[in-house]
This record gives sequence, structure tokens and C-alpha cells, in this order.
Amino acid sequence: ANAPLIDPFARPITYLRVSVTDRCDFRCVYCMAEHMQFLPKADLLTLEELDRLCTSFIGLGVRKLRITGGEPLVRRGIMGFFRQISRHLGEGLDELTLTTNGSQLGKYAQELVDCGVRRVNVSLDTLDPEKFARITRWGRLQQVLDGIEAAARAGLRVKINAVALKGVNDSELFDLVNWCGQQGHDLTFIEVMPMGDLGNEDRLDQYWPLTDLRAQLAQRFTLIDLAERTGGPARYVQLQETGQKIGFITPLTHNFCESCNRVRVTCTGELYMCLGQEDRADLRAPLRASEDDAPLQEAVRAAIARKPKGHDFDYSRQSVGGQMTRHMSHTGG
Ligand code: GTP
Ligand code: 5AD
Ligand code: SF4
Repeated sequence: ANAPLIDPFARPITYLRVSVTDRCDFRCVYCMAEHMQFLPKADLLTLEELDRLCTSFIGLGVRKLRITGGEPLVRRGIMGFFRQISRHLGEGLDELTLTTNGSQLGKYAQELVDCGVRRVNVSLDTLDPEKFARITRWGRLQQVLDGIEAAARAGLRVKINAVALKGVNDSELFDLVNWCGQQGHDLTFIEVMPMGDLGNEDRLDQYWPLTDLRAQLAQRFTLIDLAERTGGPARYVQLQETGQKIGFITPLTHNFCESCNRVRVTCTGELYMCLGQEDRADLRAPLRASEDDAPLQEAVRAAIARKPKGHDFDYSRQSVGGQMTRHMSHTGG
């Protein structure tokens, strides 16, 4: 009954991303609209339901669990959830981690460590306070820098996620690299994906292919390609001169769907088989219909059996292809 999850393209599904809230204390321009209509709290899975869901997936072979949002650390009671889920570490689960905007890390870093979290990915696109406030619409850079520092002090390994944005942070490439080098953080650049409102900003104009970013890096550093992966979509290089690691997430210039190992669940229990497709399956109904996990696991298997080959994001024809009107925050990336 508990055969591992394998999709139609023979990809084993071992990585689950779970969004625990659609809310966030920031409104990053590429992720949310300025005025978001958030879900009524009654629609959310309870923390107990989220626990059951994750436990069920672990029973189906998931070995890596990433908690996302919105901003996961603004969900009330989330530390209790982490503490509960940590019982699976070493008992089926290899990694429990999260992707966060960093604003609450000052408060929670130590508790996360106590819950077995070893590594966090923190979104940070710029080191310029004004630019930071513009991208996040009102975030305070210093709060995030303090959060990152607290995380590092608590012993968490930090990976900075920077969305590569032409005309926004392209001028800061080496500042970001140098700062991460000094702080001892890994750094991953991400190609901006066409999701959410594309109305008031030109995603196509801001799109900065990482092939170009990499070429700029190569002028100043010797890049050593690393075979090592973190279980996510990034490919890494090491800068020979500093030893630091730089990751590239390239949905546009180098589609990585072939090696996809993941699915994501929203905070209302919708299972999305692909970030870049609309198809999804409701897991909340089977979760609530029965105490028995069998119907839930059946729903998961049926959904995985139709996982698509990949996304259709594409900017190459001077127009945006494969666009999703769904906001990135809905699935937590
Ligand atoms: P690691 O465990 O450090 O490898 O993390 P990760 O890269 O899997 O997770 P993170 O939440 O840091 O995601 C970084 C970026 O990768 C985000 O912009 C995600 O939207 C994007 N991403 C993650 N998984 C997928 C995916 O399956 N498809 C696409 N197109 N983008 C993805
Ligand atoms: N394209 C690429 N990455 C995005 N993120 C949010 N929206 C987008 C987008 N449209 C990133 C965040 C965070 C991660 C979960 O996804 O910056 O690091
Ligand atoms: Fe997997 Fe879809 Fe992401 Fe491709 S776009 S890597 S198939 S989730």
C-alpha cells in the first residue's frame, strides 16, 4: 500500500512544500498584489490537519519538507507545528526547513533550531534599504538583516534567495555576492517567473536571464560547477577565489522540470502538481471526511498520476508565455 510516489515521467516525489498561510507582512511586487484579499481563517487547514497531511506524505515517501507561505512565521502557533513535525526527523524525514522573508527570525531562530531545523532560505533581493522598501512595498531591511543575523547566531545555515531583476538589483550583483561571502551565507539567484499581476509592472522588462548574470560573475571570479544539489531546483557553482557557493534557479533559461521531485500544498489543502500549471487536487475534503488516511493517500496518488511534464513559462517571443494569474504567494513558490 505504501509504495513510493512516482509520477508519469518516472520522477520520484520526495519533496513536499507546504504553505501554512497565505498572509505575509510584506507585499513583494513579483509575489503579491498591493491589496490582497486574504482567505478567511476558517478556510485554512488547522495545524492538526497540516500535521496529518505532512505525516501522510512522509508515509508516502516524502523525505524533505519545506514550510512556506505567504510568510510561514506569521501563522499563529507555527512553532508548535514545527515541534510536532520534528518527530519525523530521522524517522523517514531527512530535512525539515522553511523559506521565509526573515522578518520574524529574530524571534524564532533559536526555537527553529530546537525543532531540528538546520537551514533556512531567506528572501533578500537588495541591500539598499530604500530599494528593499520598494520591492517589499513597506518592509524594513534592518529587521530582515537582524533576523538573518539571529539565524546565523543560532547555528542555522542561511541561504539567501535573490530574485534577479534587471533595472532593480542588477547593479548590486557584486555587493550581494560580497556581502554573502563576508557573512558566510550561500546565495541563490532566481529568474523571475510570470505569475500574479503583470499589469502594473513589466515583468518582461525586468527579466534578467541568469545566463547573463553568470557571465558577469565569470568576469570577476573563477566558477567551478558543483555536482552537489540541495534537493531543490538550484544548480550551484563555487567561486574559487572566495570558496562561497552561488546557486542558479533557471526556470526560463534552463528548464529543470526533467528532474522535478516536488509538489506543493496550499494553506487550504490544494495539492498543486506543478508550480507553473493550474491543475490541482483538493486534499481538504478527504482529510476532513475520514479519520482514516487511506482516502487521503488515494487522492494524493491519483493527483501524482497526472503530474504534468513541466511549466510553460517563456519570455522568448517578446511576450510572456505560460503566465499564471495565480500569485506566487498562493503556493509559496
Ligand atoms: P533548497 O532546499 O535550498 O534547494 O530550496 P528550494 O530552492 O527548493 O526552495 P526555495 O523555497 O528557496 O525556492 C527558491 C525558488 O525556487 C523560488 O522562487 C521557488 O518558486 C522556485 N522553485 C522551487 N521549486 C520550483 C519548481 O518546482 N518549479 C519552479 N519553476 N520553481 C521552483
Ligand atoms: N518569480 C521568481 N521567484 C519568486 N519568488 C516570489 N515570487 C517570485 C516570482 N514571481 C521567490 C521569493 C522567495 C521564493 C519562495 O520565491 O523571493 O525567495
Ligand atoms: Fe516541477 Fe512544475 Fe516546477 Fe517544473 S515547473 S520543476 S514540473 S513544479
